[in-house]
Amino acid sequence: MGPATTRIMSFPALRLPAVMGHRGAAGLAPENTLAGFRRAAALGVTWVELDVRLSADGVAVLSHDESLARATGLRRKVGRLLHADIEGLDAGAWFGESFRGETLPTLAQALRLLAQLNVGVNIEVKRHEGQETRVMNAVAGALADAWPTVLVPALISSFDPAIVAAAQHRLPDLPRALIAERLPRTWRSLADSLACSAIHLNWKAANDGRISAIHAAGLGVAVYTVNEAPIARRLWAMGVDCVITDRPDVLMAARTEQEKAR
Ligand code: G3P
Ligand code: MG
Repeated sequence: MGPATTRIMSFPALRLPAVMGHRGAAGLAPENTLAGFRRAAALGVTWVELDVRLSADGVAVLSHDESLARATGLRRKVGRLLHADIEGLDAGAWFGESFRGETLPTLAQALRLLAQLNVGVNIEVKRHEGQETRVMNAVAGALADAWPTVLVPALISSFDPAIVAAAQHRLPDLPRALIAERLPRTWRSLADSLACSAIHLNWKAANDGRISAIHAAGLGVAVYTVNEAPIARRLWAMGVDCVITDRPDVLMAARTEQEKAR
């Protein structure tokens, strides 16, 4: 049995979808909101990615940025506020008047909705220096509360290997992915020691050689963030398993077209 086979068998199983909604459907509805997840599901998307941060009182909430300024207008950091101070903020109006009243949900609220919609979830946990265990405990708590074990397991990902290590320790049965803007020289040993199931790569860093090498190591490949059909087609042709997109409408249509043409 070669090393690649051993790796696949010993790693949490993961079947990446061809299209994953980025922050829900960030090009069509405000990112990391329940409206975005509903929009993605309505388009037939089977998985979404979302971003998690910890409030000062230890609640896992959805927010891409550390600052709440862009999404809510409040110039404060998520980690400096109590959840009670975040939950009422409007996170929809900046995107469009019709989304006024949308808020930044807790991870548990998001998971509950996604479970109802039967949409899989990639939980990207942002860097939390020195608080990796604390944030992972909050993620584990939300999953235990709101994600039925009969559903496809959540995929945990992060740019920070320390977060992926915390996931490996706290949630060992869930698949993990390391996210990278550029593939680090040490990706193989890093992915190996963290027992990752996939690498999530900036699409601009993807090429045939890298995709083949990642696959040969027994790992899946997702790329982010692609909003144009011709680019997605090129990446699928390279063998990329999953394209993460703000425009699931565009990519779902491209994928359907491609499948019809086969
Ligand atoms: O998880 C893939 C992608 O979301 C990583 O980048 O900055 O959009 O969270 P970012
Ligand atoms: Mg993200």
